[in-house]
Amino acid sequence: MQWADNMLSYDSLPYHSLSFQKSVQEIIHQEQERVPPFFYDQAEGLRRMAQSDSNRGELNQNRPVRVIAVSSGKGGVGKTNVSVNLAMSLAATGQKVMIMDADLGLANIDVLLGLHPKLNISHVLSGDYDLSEVIIDAPGNIKIIPAASGVSSMASLSDAENAGIINAFGELQNELDVLIIDTAAGIDKSVVSFCRASQEVIVVVCDEPSSITDAYALIKVLNKEQGINRFRILANMAHDMKEGRDLFGKILRVTDRFLDVSLDFLGAIPFDIYLRKAVKKQTAVSQAYPRSPSAQAFSMAAQKINKWPMPKRPGGHLEFFVERLINSN
Ligand SMILES: Nc1ncnc2c1ncn2[C@@H]1O[C@H](COP(=O)(O)OP(=O)(O)O)[C@@H](O)[C@H]1O
Ligand SMILES: [Mg+2]
Repeated sequence: MQWADNMLSYDSLPYHSLSFQKSVQEIIHQEQERVPPFFYDQAEGLRRMAQSDSNRGELNQNRPVRVIAVSSGKGGVGKTNVSVNLAMSLAATGQKVMIMDADLGLANIDVLLGLHPKLNISHVLSGDYDLSEVIIDAPGNIKIIPAASGVSSMASLSDAENAGIINAFGELQNELDVLIIDTAAGIDKSVVSFCRASQEVIVVVCDEPSSITDAYALIKVLNKEQGINRFRILANMAHDMKEGRDLFGKILRVTDRFLDVSLDFLGAIPFDIYLRKAVKKQTAVSQAYPRSPSAQAFSMAAQKINKWPMPKRPGGHLEFFVERLINSN
């Protein structure tokens, strides 16, 4: 592919060629041992929240909005960089894009972009501010809803607060085409809630056994416990496009064998020193080095996303969010 050809001294970059086979075999072994499925028990509370009259009144947005959760299971595989660069690439195609930093325990979009927001989502939860007052403009023509960094109570929101965040979107007057949710690492209840409420789930994975097993565990929980059956796989820090596809193939082999899910290959983002340089400069690679291999790959992925089908039903993401909450589990 284009970016592979452009890569400067690509082969000399530090790169761990770990065997996928080991992690794939571990997954197969574990499944055959019949490890009990993960258990989640908050759907009931969320369903009650979503069904209450007060929550229903605000859901009147008529514009279809793509709501995309970016998740991975494992931390440090590139979720935040993926969220930000996909957002900017989508914005460059004329879409109105907003990112919600849902890594409530460890906010980092603002750090990545060198922003210093005064308000964050906790001010919405406390009832002191409207969501529209908290949203900030970021470079690359995108908007951000900052998370509350270091506020320990934000790390585990109650069902009511989770539903409160979702309902707060009813106050948004801005036109919006895409809402990207940058989730936390792990498979805790906030990650599951946001993925369940989103229309699309992008699973970021890289060529390491722990990333593959964590991605599989995430897909399994979201499928078995929440009925999510379509996932978009984005291979990050790939050596080349073939390696990204191979990684996708390995994950597909285990999910095909043990789960009833459909996986779609969104693409491969190369390991890119320019992305690292951009991170150090507190900018997004798509902005700082738009012709770098990773920026080009993000732009290709954004073009694919633009071709995904829109939700069949008219109505905004708010209705979609709530519908998912009501119908799940
Ligand atoms: N495509 C890539 N090429 C090179 N380094 C990357 C790439 N993607 C991510 N990284 C590195 O990994 C680090 C963690 O990425 P980040 O987006 O913060 O991950 P997460 O949000 O999943 O924890 C980045 O700071 C960067 O140094
Ligand atoms: Mg992150």
